[in-house]
Amino acid sequence: MPATVVVGTQWGDEGKGKLTDLIAKEMHLVVRYQGGHNAGHTLVVDGESFALQLVPSGVLYDHITPVIGNGVVVDPFVLLKEIDTLERKGVDCSRLKVSGNAHVILPYHQELDRLTERYLGKNKLGTTKRGIGPTYADKSLRVGIRVQDLLDPKIFREKLEVVVGEKNKVLTKVYNRLPEDFEALADRVEAEVVPRLTPYIADTVSLVHDGLDAGQHVLFEGAQATFLDLDHGTYPYVTSSNPISGGACVGAGVGPLHINRVVGIAKAYVTRVGAGPFPTELFDEVGDVLVDRGREFGTNTGRRRRPGWFDAVMMRQAVRLNSLSELAITKLDILDTLETLKVCVAYDVDGVRHEHLPYHQSDLHAAVPVYAELPGWQQDLTTCTERHQLPPEAVAYLEFLQEQVGVPITFVGTGPGREQFVQFNS
Ligand code: GDP
Ligand code: IMO
Ligand code: MG
Repeated sequence: MPATVVVGTQWGDEGKGKLTDLIAKEMHLVVRYQGGHNAGHTLVVDGESFALQLVPSGVLYDHITPVIGNGVVVDPFVLLKEIDTLERKGVDCSRLKVSGNAHVILPYHQELDRLTERYLGKNKLGTTKRGIGPTYADKSLRVGIRVQDLLDPKIFREKLEVVVGEKNKVLTKVYNRLPEDFEALADRVEAEVVPRLTPYIADTVSLVHDGLDAGQHVLFEGAQATFLDLDHGTYPYVTSSNPISGGACVGAGVGPLHINRVVGIAKAYVTRVGAGPFPTELFDEVGDVLVDRGREFGTNTGRRRRPGWFDAVMMRQAVRLNSLSELAITKLDILDTLETLKVCVAYDVDGVRHEHLPYHQSDLHAAVPVYAELPGWQQDLTTCTERHQLPPEAVAYLEFLQEQVGVPITFVGTGPGREQFVQFNS
């Protein structure tokens, strides 16, 4: 009954999709436990690219049941479109299960996300404008619509009418916008969503536990990342869910004793999209090299990601917050052309050295990275699939990261393709 969590250890886009797909072949169920279509997880298989937002990354394997857990927020229109796109590419999505307890993102959530960002002006968070925050807010306020509500037209209409009435007061009186048409929205959901979504709706907690009881391997696929976590990230520049590994317990309905492996995913450097502190951020031509070579533009939003050097201070915190048992380093090949590499080993805050993340966020804003410098390898890694093929400088860089972070590196990404990786330690 083992369970594994794949979790992002930086600010997202570390390559969780690729790693999930890579280790999913040994799994029976792959479960998303939080977030929504703010995620963009890319898989490249036989040269074909798949950009997944809501459907778990195990979907490409026939033997896997992909599960959208209760902790996810689901835009049903987006989910159905994603299923259509995958099926057009020959991917069978019929095994997909969606928790009846997951909350539903509706158009007014997206409108409120956009309006709040506009209202915040220069203080905006740079959200994906997918309605994630407003939907989780409704869940906490206990006025959210759950997937299971769609199965009962009377309950659905009753709940929707109440919540739309309240949203319309905000939309019209606070933001001077047009109200949402409750009847039209209810009709649209009943016509376009309910008949198609119903076959996928399930009691996913029982499904996961039946699997665990039968000795099946379950993989929990995190979206977003540790420093976008609502509680442990760089608040308020975070998402509205708990991506850390503990979030898998809440967002899928399993106790912590089921989880025996936590794979932290980190890029060989760091990127962040949206606003917020970023101590090792680069504003020079090295940053441009990382963005250009790494194609660091959002999978869904197309936004340029902010680049920076690998930050071991953040990683030590990620080890603590997630109980990382191993680390996968992705995109090592993006560093191929650089002569010298830097790794942040500590922060200097007003003359005080911090090897662990300072508790007060003002200190994080003031942190000056203390760097170690290592030689680059300046050769192409994209064909390396065995550890012995890596140049000595690349091995030294990885060993340095491993020593700094204190967790063994198992996988190393050398390209976007499913087969482009090295098993560094088994
Ligand atoms: P996720 O959100 O964590 O799943 O990551 P994204 O899919 O948003 O972004 C990671 C990007 O890097 C995708 O375009 C992947 O195809 C690509 N990628 C993943 N691993 C590697 C790697 O080792 N090398 C290279 N060059 N690209 C990679
Ligand atoms: P994956 O799963 C990178 C960021 C947004 C913004 C903040 C809040 O692909 O790694 P939200 O729309 O969630 O309210 O936005 O979080 N963000 C991500 N950044 N990768 C993601 O997902 C992200 N999902 C949200 O840019 O700064
Ligand atoms: Mg992504």
